Amino acid sequence: MSGDQPQDCAAARHVAIIMDGNGRWAKAKGLPRVMGHRRGVEAVRALVRSVEDMGLECLTLYAFSSENWKRPEGEVDDLMNLMRKFIKSDLPEFIANDVRLHIIGDWQGLAPDIVAMLENALEKTSGGSRTLAVALNYGAQQEIVRAAAKAAAQGEVTEESIAAHLDTAQLPPLDLLIRTSGEVRLSNFLLWQSAYAEMLFVDTLWPDFTPEHLRQALEDFGGRERRYGGR
Ligand code: IPE
Ligand code: IPE
Ligand code: MG
Repeated sequence: MSGDQPQDCAAARHVAIIMDGNGRWAKAKGLPRVMGHRRGVEAVRALVRSVEDMGLECLTLYAFSSENWKRPEGEVDDLMNLMRKFIKSDLPEFIANDVRLHIIGDWQGLAPDIVAMLENALEKTSGGSRTLAVALNYGAQQEIVRAAAKAAAQGEVTEESIAAHLDTAQLPPLDLLIRTSGEVRLSNFLLWQSAYAEMLFVDTLWPDFTPEHLRQALEDFGGRERRYGGR
């Protein structure tokens, strides 16, 4: 964390997105919430297809938080069913396009059939060169507690030993964190990893977020000066 020299932003390697605003998108159109989530999946698909063109090594998407279980059962069911459909329909494309799937969060706590689908998808995409990391049943505080406990069980608790046990340990350092929908909070997402990440909050609701929005975000990022506490 320390010792980094100030530098102009090199190209981003790792972008993470809090995909927010599906419900408000649907409400504004007089549609049921599930339609917002469906259109949200379409936005995900378009974005994943653009990752290679953007030169990103890793895109991390917040899909379901550990707190999202508080939502009405029907909405949680809709989200889980969309997840099942998405994995099934898009896995062949991931494999064809060299996309490596990675999951962060307590995903083993999802329904057994989803866990099995994810295990299969992880295995089938393990050779991919670009990473799509999906945060499922994810909470950053829980992730840090898990990592610290593992670090303690193995020896010394240090910044490095905690980082080595985070769910993101194999991913490049986080460069840019984007949240859509105008909310300006992190909602328990990547708290450790965002220590020196750049942040961008945009008003666009998630279903309206396109690869062009990501391109603009990367342009904005390119103009920033990261100092890491130095000068
Ligand atoms: C984001 O959209 C999707 C998930 C959290 C799963 P929301 O459903 O939170 O949409 P808003 O914030 O209510 O508009
Ligand atoms: C964060 O959005 C979680 C995801 C995008 C998956 P929420 O809509 O759940 O966050 P809050 O409740 O507005 O903080
Ligand atoms: Mg929301």
